Amino acid sequence: MHEKIIEIAVRRGFLYPSFEIYGGLSGFYDYGPLGALLKKNIEDLWRNYFCLQEGFLEISSPTISPEEIFIASGHTGNFTDPIVKCTKCGNFFRADHLLQSYDIEAEGLNSDKIDHLIKERNIKCPDCSGSLGKVKTFNLMFKTYISPGKGKVGYLRPETAQSMFILFTRLYNFYRRKLPFGVAQIGRAYRNEISPRQGLIRLREFTQAEVEIFIDPRNNNHTKFQQYAEEKVRLLPRDRDDTIEITARESVDLGIVAHEFLSYYIVHTKNFLLACGIPEEKLRFRQHLLEEMAHYARDCWDAEIYTRQFGWIEVVGIADRTDYDLRAHEKGSGTELKAFREYVKPEIVREIKIEPLMNKLGPAFKSKAGDIAEKIRNLSPEETGDEIKIELEGDVYTISREYFCIKETKKKITGEKFNPHVIEPSFGIDRIFYSILETSYIERDGKNILRISPALAPMKVSIFPLVKKEPLPEIALDISDRIKRKSIFTYYDENDSIGRRYARSDEVGIPYSITIDFDGVESKTVTLRDRDTTEQVRIKTDKVPAFIKKLVDGDLKFRDIKEAH
Ligand code: GLY
Repeated sequence: MHEKIIEIAVRRGFLYPSFEIYGGLSGFYDYGPLGALLKKNIEDLWRNYFCLQEGFLEISSPTISPEEIFIASGHTGNFTDPIVKCTKCGNFFRADHLLQSYDIEAEGLNSDKIDHLIKERNIKCPDCSGSLGKVKTFNLMFKTYISPGKGKVGYLRPETAQSMFILFTRLYNFYRRKLPFGVAQIGRAYRNEISPRQGLIRLREFTQAEVEIFIDPRNNNHTKFQQYAEEKVRLLPRDRDDTIEITARESVDLGIVAHEFLSYYIVHTKNFLLACGIPEEKLRFRQHLLEEMAHYARDCWDAEIYTRQFGWIEVVGIADRTDYDLRAHEKGSGTELKAFREYVKPEIVREIKIEPLMNKLGPAFKSKAGDIAEKIRNLSPEETGDEIKIELEGDVYTISREYFCIKETKKKITGEKFNPHVIEPSFGIDRIFYSILETSYIERDGKNILRISPALAPMKVSIFPLVKKEPLPEIALDISDRIKRKSIFTYYDENDSIGRRYARSDEVGIPYSITIDFDGVESKTVTLRDRDTTEQVRIKTDKVPAFIKKLVDGDLKFRDIKEAH
């Protein structure tokens, strides 16, 4: 199946293996003209769901960062996979995947344990049957140098998330210092995968769409939870072998999903993936095993899509990252990354302070009075008696009670500072792209069809003059122009038989086609064809752009279009 999808995708301009004329390099793909459009449409739909509908805004940050960022975030220490090298052919393998290919569970095992299992089971190099060396850990980040010469060490970002944590205070101020708020980012991320052999599923350079939602952990109820409370989701909790289908409300009430925020984003993600055209029965949410969780996460639910080629694949991770990241960057940068929580009722706090009396200290201690006063202020009231001793430049001064007083004041405390927690829905756009191609593919009468949803299809409508004879091409091009003025991509094709043109159009997932024939010249009509049913309906030419717009926006169903007379 993968071969078939990739064959169509490459032949029809969705994807190209990168660096092909130089022999290629696994883990990289170019998006061709149709692929780049499809990818952009997925990203725009995501923006609709996760920015527009949620009231979150997007930022765009550098993809290279200095190493301090990743030392603080824990990536230099923890973002590793186990690696093993063949002593004969020199090829590298991801050691846990190698064990898994022999049905040996290796998730979360450390390098020593994996090494032990490889030796115990006498596992050899899959390429040359040579002996394997010792299992080591390999950091997945691409290292680079910033500025000439040896420069400053930097890394290509392994996730878009970090910049949103570093910018916390600026973003908090932007959102007028109110929680919760969310910040989104779509962009490239980089992971130096050890031996990627799964096409778009494991890329070394890939596109993430991430939202970091900053919340007060004392209030993890989502204000819009009610909207999704009765929606059912398929969950695979970590302590079960089979999926359960329950409502969002039940998932929280039964303690299966920890809180409303996670549950809300599970349902919202489900709805986004359904809008991408992923069939509901091919979708589930699997909770991470404890040993599988990323170093920053307390809980994580993956949206998984069932693919014929790879089985269940993770396409989204919805993680509770707690205050791990903000605390880590506070420590790393020495800069406070806190929000302010107002108390319901201000607290009145008694404060006892020791206060120097300058009108007495000045005449008595002259030029030393200011420094002595400062030292007195820094004492705690418990350290004072009837007299205190102050050491200044090697001299000790005895200050009796007439030079200072103890004052009691009351202070109103309106709230406290704290590190917000982060809920993170993180999407792998390339995996969603592949899943859309695979799940939309069918064969009809021996021909390939991609039933990509109209909202995502790269081209929305094909325009075919029945024959290359005026006035048909002229009318067809005029219709095409009028549709394009509605910001809708059209695909004009006047070559070959109409059957072959329909086949070409179906194979790249164009949901509608318009055919202009001689019958319609007089009546000012054209035929509109639906890709999925192959049904056709004759409609007035001047209605075409409005109909196409409504069909693409989901405001009209093809079956509801009436025949023009
Ligand atoms: N930010 C989550 C991830 O990169 O997996």
